[in-house]
Amino acid sequence: DKGGWSSFMAKEVSEEPEAVAKTVLGRVRDGAVVIPELDGLDELFAGISRVVVIACGTAAYAGQVGKYAIEQWARIPVDVELAHEFRYRDPVIGPDTLVVSISQSGETMDTLMAVKYAREQGARTLSICNTQGATIPRESDAVVYTHAGPEVAVASTKAFVAQITALYLLALHVARVRGSMTAEQIARETHELEAVPEKISTILEREQERITQLAGWMADTRSVLFLGRHVGFPIALEGALKLKEISYIHAEGFAAGELKHGPIALIEPGQPVFVIVPSPRDSTLLHDKVVSNIQEIRARGARVIVIAEEGDASVLPFSDEVLRIPLAGALFEPLLAVVPLHIFAMGLATAKGLDVDQPRNLAKSVTVE
Ligand code: BG6
Repeated sequence: DKGGWSSFMAKEVSEEPEAVAKTVLGRVRDGAVVIPELDGLDELFAGISRVVVIACGTAAYAGQVGKYAIEQWARIPVDVELAHEFRYRDPVIGPDTLVVSISQSGETMDTLMAVKYAREQGARTLSICNTQGATIPRESDAVVYTHAGPEVAVASTKAFVAQITALYLLALHVARVRGSMTAEQIARETHELEAVPEKISTILEREQERITQLAGWMADTRSVLFLGRHVGFPIALEGALKLKEISYIHAEGFAAGELKHGPIALIEPGQPVFVIVPSPRDSTLLHDKVVSNIQEIRARGARVIVIAEEGDASVLPFSDEVLRIPLAGALFEPLLAVVPLHIFAMGLATAKGLDVDQPRNLAKSVTVE
């Protein structure tokens, strides 16, 4: 039931605040992270020396965002790999490796086979999954469910923000067990996490119409590029994937720092480029580097659409459009910056008259390898 929305995707994007809120619900108490599903696993978390995150598609980009949080908070090295690549390359894993799989459906065959393989190699396995009782969580040592509710549209949206949320809760849980953060530090982050749903709602309220209109004007665009740095990099990849999936437009995401090493050759007058700008409050260094990337592409005629924090005026002279996201700590920006990109992809596909819920050639859950 679309509940009055024009598509399941539109409904599911509108549910992004709820997807985060419900995934946090009952798992944060007085600033501490409480995940009953992980009771009795302290020894496991204390004993691992590395984490390998495996997933496919959008879930893999959630994993890439999660890497920054797990490394920063829990101080454990994290590799993120596509499940089908991991499975067939003889990876070095063992009992000190925690393999975290991420899957909305819990049935993706590529991910399932990689989880089974990891177990055979003696690794510990934890599943982040949106579907109760699905195969992947059943095949894993532990599961942390995302509570995004059923996702029907083929392209994943609300599950993505719920997956990042679950990874952050996991990272903070492990940080407590390993003593890499104080209770006060954890409380500061859980407080930020609890504030995310409201901030996503603000973006939906303030920017949805304008982004949809912008997408409508761009219905004839043949190629769109996305740039991001740090946690903004996987968000750039996700923005590009969504556009490919539902609007059949060539799109690519790049690490902003990589621009001068190749992608800048693609910039010609009129080329639309989305740029996710890190907050100037957390790291002026990172922020200023991305702003100088914007100047570089603008000088070559790019049409620059910026996603930037409210109040960041430094981007104004070099941007054609500025989409605003509320203030948040650096690690929480991806949960906000992705929302305009989901709206944009949906708006563009709709403007092209496409079925956003059922894109050609794709299936919601791919149960073959
Ligand atoms: C693809 C879907 O086939 O599988 C994507 O079209 C999804 O939307 C990916 O991100 C992974 O699916 P799951 O269920 O394992 O998260």
